[in-house]
Amino acid sequence: MLEVRALTVRHGYLRALTDINLAVSPGETVAIIGANGAGKSTLLRAIIGLHHPSAGSILLNGRDITALPSHARVREGIALVPEGRRLFPSLSVEENLLVGRSSGRPGPWSLGRVYQLFSWMADRRREPTVHLSGGEQQAVAIGRALMANPRVLLLDELSLGLAPTMVRRIYGALPELVKDGMAVLLVEQDVAQALRVANRFQCLLEGRTTLEGKPAEATTAKIEAAYFGLAGRSGPGSVA
Ligand SMILES: Nc1ncnc2c1ncn2[C@@H]1O[C@H](COP(=O)(O)OP(=O)(O)OP(=O)(O)O)[C@@H](O)[C@H]1O
Ligand SMILES: [Mg+2]
Repeated sequence: MLEVRALTVRHGYLRALTDINLAVSPGETVAIIGANGAGKSTLLRAIIGLHHPSAGSILLNGRDITALPSHARVREGIALVPEGRRLFPSLSVEENLLVGRSSGRPGPWSLGRVYQLFSWMADRRREPTVHLSGGEQQAVAIGRALMANPRVLLLDELSLGLAPTMVRRIYGALPELVKDGMAVLLVEQDVAQALRVANRFQCLLEGRTTLEGKPAEATTAKIEAAYFGLAGRSGPGSVA
C-alpha cells in the first residue's frame, strides 16, 4: 500500500533522513521509534508532502506520488495527525471534523461513525475544541483525519502530554481503524506503547534506520542499542 524507497530529506545543510526504506500493508500497523531529533516527524511530513525529498520516492498502491502536492496526497488517501494536534481552537468539535471531510475522499468514515468510535464526542460537538482536554483534542484530531477516509493514516506522537489512561483509550481505538484494511504508520516516543500495538517497527537514529522487525522478536538490549546508537554504524540491523 505505502512504500518509501531510499528516501533522503534535507533541512538546509542538515540531512534529516538518509536512505530510508519502509513499507506498510493494508490492515498493518508499523511503528517508527527513535529519540528526539531522529527524523520521525520529518518522515511522516515527507510522506504527506510537507517536506520534499532530495532523493528517493514515495509510492501509494504502486503509484509514484513523490511529485504530488500535499492536498493531492490527501485526496489519494494519506492523512496525518500531526504532532501537537493542530486543531482550529475556536471552531467546534464538529467543525474541526468537517475540515477533514472537505479535503478527503468518500468512504466509510462519517460524523456518525467518529461519534460511535469516541462516544463522548457527540454530546460535545458544538463546543470549541479549546475547551477540551489534551486527550479529547487528540481524539478530535484523529477523528478529523479519519473523516478524510484515508488508506494510510499517519499518527505523530499520540501519547505526548496525555495521562496513561487516556493513552490506553486512544490506542484502544486502533483495532477499529485497521479492521477495514486501513494502514497505520505511527511515531511514538513511548516505545513500550508503540511495540504493544505495532505489527512491525523501525528504529531511527540520526535519520537512518538502525533496527527493524517484529516487536516479539526484538530484545530490549537490541532496541536500546539501536535507539541510543551503541551498536556501531554498520547499517540497519534486523531482529530476526
Ligand atoms: N523545518 C525544519 N528546518 C530545519 N531543521 C529541521 C526542521 N524540522 C526538523 N528539523 C531538524 O531535523 C532533525 C529531525 O527532526 P524531526 O522533527 O524529524 O525529529 P523527531 O524524530 O520527530 O523528533 P521529536 O521526537 O523531538 O519530535 C532535527 O535535528 C531537527 O532539528
Ligand atoms: Mg517529532
